Amino acid sequence: MTPAGGRLRVGVLVSGRGSNLQALLDASSRRDYPAEVVVVISDRERAAALDRARAAGVEALFINPKDYADREAFDLALVREFTVRQVGLVCNAGFMRILSPAYVRAFAGRAMNIHPSLLPAFPGLHAQRQALEYGAKVAGATVHFVDEGPVDTGPIILQASVPVHPDDTEDSLSARILVQEHRLYPEAVRLFAEGRLAVVGRRVIVR
Ligand code: GAR
Repeated sequence: MTPAGGRLRVGVLVSGRGSNLQALLDASSRRDYPAEVVVVISDRERAAALDRARAAGVEALFINPKDYADREAFDLALVREFTVRQVGLVCNAGFMRILSPAYVRAFAGRAMNIHPSLLPAFPGLHAQRQALEYGAKVAGATVHFVDEGPVDTGPIILQASVPVHPDDTEDSLSARILVQEHRLYPEAVRLFAEGRLAVVGRRVIVR
């Protein structure tokens, strides 16, 4: 939702460190950026990402999954929090839970995720480790829309590749990929906010 003349209101889901959140907060802080992060929600109370949000003056909420009967009830609580704040786009930034179909339907076409691989290769956990173990020579990052598929399956918005070096460790490869993540995510949100993304079947056309 973009209030008349206003910027796109963005909600962010996090579980941990929050470096991608920081990239979005930094972009938001620029006056000419067409989107602003208005709320950050974590499923983990001690997530450093919550501190980053507070430091930027953005509302930061911990919602405890244990307070809800099941996954769907928790996810619907997320939907409520975003909806009352008139969020027009939700970004998963290191959010380590699978979202239920009810959540995905509530934000169909308005939910993005970032993943540290060149999808559809290496979905799920430890994507960088998977790439190293497979012996891939090229790795990378993907921003995609969230759909009802199992994990990391939605239409791809942007990707960037990085080389895998022979002496890479999981940490060194992750750091190289992260540089690209921090560039891609604010760019994908900008394109969405400017109304420049069209989904045609599985393909996302950037206009
Ligand atoms: C990022 O590398 C992100 O792509 C990955 O978790 C990290 C979070 O870092 N997400 C996934 O693997 C989701 N399947 P951050 O908390 O510093 O943004």
